[in-house]
Amino acid sequence: MLKIVLLGAPGSGKGTQGAELATRYSVPQIATGDLLREAVAEDSELGRAAKAAMDAGELVSDETVIGMIRDRLTSPDAANGFILDGFPRSLAQAEELDRLLTELDRPLQRVIHLQVDNEEIVQRLTDRGRGDDTEETIRNRLAVFAAQTEPLVAYYEARGLLTPVNGSGTVEEIQERIVRAIEGA
Ligand code: AP5
Ligand code: MG
Repeated sequence: MLKIVLLGAPGSGKGTQGAELATRYSVPQIATGDLLREAVAEDSELGRAAKAAMDAGELVSDETVIGMIRDRLTSPDAANGFILDGFPRSLAQAEELDRLLTELDRPLQRVIHLQVDNEEIVQRLTDRGRGDDTEETIRNRLAVFAAQTEPLVAYYEARGLLTPVNGSGTVEEIQERIVRAIEGA
C-alpha cells in the first residue's frame, strides 16, 4: 500500500514521476490538474468555473478541488493506496486531506518534495508549451507556489512526513531517489 503526496513547484516533475510510480506500485495517480483539465475539456459546470483561474496560473477554489479529491479517494481503485500529484496546494487543502484520511483510516505515509531550480523549471515548461505554459503564467504559477503551497513544506516537516528529493537529473535517476525515499533505503 503506497500513500504518498508529490509536492513540488510547477514543472518539478510531479506528473512524470507520479506516472512511473503508479505503474511500479500499481496504485492510481490522482492529479487535480489533470482532473480539472478534463472538466474544462468536457465544458462541465466545474470546468467552466475553474478555467479562468487555471489560465491565469491562480489556484482553483479549495472547495472545488477538495470535492474532487473526496470523490476520487473514496472510489474503489484508491482503496489500496494513491499518489497525490498537485494536491494539496494550500494549508486548507492539507488540513482537509488529513481529516479525510483519518476518516478513511488511511494516513499518509510520506510527502516527497521535488526540488528543482526556477530557471530549469521555466526552461522545461517553455519547451513543453501546455495551454498554461506561457512565460507570464509560468512566473505566476511559481509565485503562487511560493506564497500558497511552500508553507506545506514546514507543515509536513513538523509531522515527520517530509522527504526532500533532488528533482534535477534524468527521469530514471530521480525515480530511483524517490523509490529510496519511499522504501527508506
Ligand atoms: P497542475 O496540472 O498540477 O500543474 P503544475 O503544478 O503547474 O505542474 P505541471 O503539471 O506543469 O508540472 P509537473 O510538476 O507535473 O511536471 P511534469 O512532470 O509535467 O496544475 C495546473 C493548474 O490547475 C494550476 O495552476 C491551478 O490553476 C489548478 N490546480 C491544480 N491543482 C490544484 C489544487 N490542488 N488547488 C487549486 N488549484 C489547482 O514535467 C514538466 C515538463 O518537464 C514536462 O514537459 C516533462 O516532460 C519535463 N520533465 C520532467 N522531468 C524532467 C527531467 N528530469 N528532466 C527534464 N525534463 C523533465
Ligand atoms: Mg503535472
